[in-house]
Amino acid sequence: MVNVCVTGGQWGDEGKGKVIDILSEQFDVVVRFQGGSNAGHTVVINGKTYFLHLVPSGIFHRDKICIIGNGVVIDPFGLKKEMDELKENGVDVSPDRLLISDRAHLVLPFHKIFDKRLEDVREFKKIGTTGRGIGPCYGAKALRLGVRVIDLYDDNTLSLLLKDNAGIFNTLFKDYLSSELIDTDRLFNKLCEIREFFRPYVTNTVYRLNQFNKDGKSVLFEGAQASLLDIDHGTYPFVTSSSVISGGISSGAGFPPNLIDFNIGVFKAYCTRVGNGPFPTEAQNGVEEIIRSIGGEFGTTTGRPRRCGWFDLVAAKYARIINGYTHIAIMKLDVLNKFEEIPLCIGYRYKGTIIKEFPSDVNILEAVEPYYKFLKGWNSDISGINRFEDLPQEAKDYVNYISDSLEANLYLVSVGPDRSESIIIDNLLKN
Ligand code: GDP
Ligand code: IMO
Ligand code: MG
Repeated sequence: MVNVCVTGGQWGDEGKGKVIDILSEQFDVVVRFQGGSNAGHTVVINGKTYFLHLVPSGIFHRDKICIIGNGVVIDPFGLKKEMDELKENGVDVSPDRLLISDRAHLVLPFHKIFDKRLEDVREFKKIGTTGRGIGPCYGAKALRLGVRVIDLYDDNTLSLLLKDNAGIFNTLFKDYLSSELIDTDRLFNKLCEIREFFRPYVTNTVYRLNQFNKDGKSVLFEGAQASLLDIDHGTYPFVTSSSVISGGISSGAGFPPNLIDFNIGVFKAYCTRVGNGPFPTEAQNGVEEIIRSIGGEFGTTTGRPRRCGWFDLVAAKYARIINGYTHIAIMKLDVLNKFEEIPLCIGYRYKGTIIKEFPSDVNILEAVEPYYKFLKGWNSDISGINRFEDLPQEAKDYVNYISDSLEANLYLVSVGPDRSESIIIDNLLKN
């Protein structure tokens, strides 16, 4: 029995969905522990593409149990839609294989309105959020104003909570944000309607999950967003609002840290970022567009073009430290097929020195210049390759340079979007 955590090592969209889908085959339970429908995880199976926002990416393997943990923020209307779409595609999302935490907080329509209006009115440091209500929902949670899944099933609690929220948010909406007001009665009725759909799925997932572990089942944790968007360790304030790193499992799923055997960091062979904030290795002079078009770098959730650039080892090493990566997956190596040489950032130039630590101050991070080592490209199509030894030497050198620098074992190298386009190097469960 092995328990593994998979988190993003960069700014998101590294290919976590694909990695989870591949790993799920070897695990019994797959758990989301943070984030909400700001996540967009893509899984491609036999040429068919699925997009997931809240349902764990293990859902495509029939006999696996998927859990949406207490640390996730759930948009109930969005989740129902996602589940309905999966069902239409023949995917089994019945209550015996999808469990939803009764402690998870609900993203309500006014959180989304607040998210968007806040972005409009703030002048200093606009974040460029996904507009999915994530910040306001986690904010309300911290303010002890949150509405949890369990609250849906107590009419009195639900209506009083909505009233309190309306009292506070409507003042902000009316006086400062010139936004439409919360209609508590209407929202109450809508929630009472949808709660019946979710009733069979809702449970105390902490007990279920820990019992699965006791019964010898293997658990896989699916991170959303990524280390550099972590609320504590990311490029604050240009971050998301949850603890996305491996340590977030304890609070976000109620699963103790000493039971995690391996931590896998998922990295693209280059870097992307959606939204605002510092990005030292962002490519210039048209190279950004080349990477974007080869890599299909457009947001899964919002469709926004992703900012593109080169692999940043300074940032990656920071992610490695805070997550304790034992393994890494390097994704989208095929996107670099046509580059003669590939820049790899090994330090930041700042005020005449080279710095190797990832700065806490975003103003410094905005001001640094990347210090590159240039590695030779392989200049050939590697998409069909499925054994590491068959990769061109230059591709092996590139990947090995990254894994050696991060002092982590290579779990997987990905050479195309499909499940089958993967080179598995370390079969974790057979270790
Ligand atoms: P996630 O949020 O980390 O799950 O990643 P996304 O799904 O948002 O973005 C990753 C994108 O890259 C998706 O469109 C995947 O289908 C695609 N992808 C994943 N691995 C590979 C790969 O090795 N090569 C290529 N070309 N595309 C990949
Ligand atoms: P996955 O799981 C990439 C970014 C947003 C914005 C910032 C805050 O698919 O990797 P939020 O809506 O969370 O308040 O936005 O975080 N962001 C992501 N970027 N991938 C994601 O998820 C993201 N989730 C949030 O673009 O800059
Ligand atoms: Mg994504």
